[in-house]
Amino acid sequence: MLEVRNLTKSFGTAVAVDNLSFSIRQGESLGLVGESGSGKTTLARLILKLIEPTSGSIVYNSVGDIRRECQIVFQDPQSSLNPRIKIGEAIGEPILIHKLLPKENITARVAELLGLVKLSKEHSSRFPHELSGGERQRVGIARALASNPKFLILDEPVSSLDVSIQVDILKLLKEIKLQLNLTYLFIAHDLSVIGFMCDRVMVMKDGKIVEENNTAEIFSAPRDPYTRQLIDSTLKI
Ligand SMILES: Nc1ncnc2c1ncn2[C@@H]1O[C@H](COP(=O)(O)OP(=O)(O)O)[C@@H](O)[C@H]1O
Ligand SMILES: [Mg+2]
Repeated sequence: MLEVRNLTKSFGTAVAVDNLSFSIRQGESLGLVGESGSGKTTLARLILKLIEPTSGSIVYNSVGDIRRECQIVFQDPQSSLNPRIKIGEAIGEPILIHKLLPKENITARVAELLGLVKLSKEHSSRFPHELSGGERQRVGIARALASNPKFLILDEPVSSLDVSIQVDILKLLKEIKLQLNLTYLFIAHDLSVIGFMCDRVMVMKDGKIVEENNTAEIFSAPRDPYTRQLIDSTLKI
């Protein structure tokens, strides 16, 4: 799906992403785990071309429009949704921007997207504050899916939600991935979330990937001391 080669991003003298090379296969769910400040979101923004790398490259195996095909679901649906824009309009906006459908067909497509994330079409006329946190994140997912992407980056999509709701959203994301044949880069600071969602995982620390392996191997035979530390902190909960 895409290949990252020697990717580096510095902010002043601080190196947020430090010479990363990896690839993401079509259809896989690749995990990216690491503590806060390790460079995960910076990597996501580089892949989405929201920021320019200092050096290195990202090669997409696609002939389509990357800005349409790669979408992101943010950690905090509260701050990623405009409080004054109704849900239906928020979900329909990418369809308008990318001119994907005639205006008169957008309402029906929004209803379909709401169904995909298991909300009802009555949610269309509500404002973000009239939804629960979990419902707002479903809207964030529907909005990301509106442009028919092939690749989703999920940047800590359940970190801001109550534990009881996290599993519902993770199950929904699994279901949607299968249904729409998507590829995921799944970012988390918690290995148990990655264990549930991902086939393969990269462990990131101080802008570098310190370990990369199949999820099962990471749990059963972690090689890097930092990975071991992450696993231990997961088990203690
Ligand atoms: N726009 C920016 N300007 C300056 N420093 C930044 C900027 N964005 C991120 N950083 C820094 O880069 C490092 C990695 O941040 P980030 O990618 O957000 O980490 P994570 O998502 O893993 O918590 C942090 O030290 C952060 O302060
Ligand atoms: Mg982040």
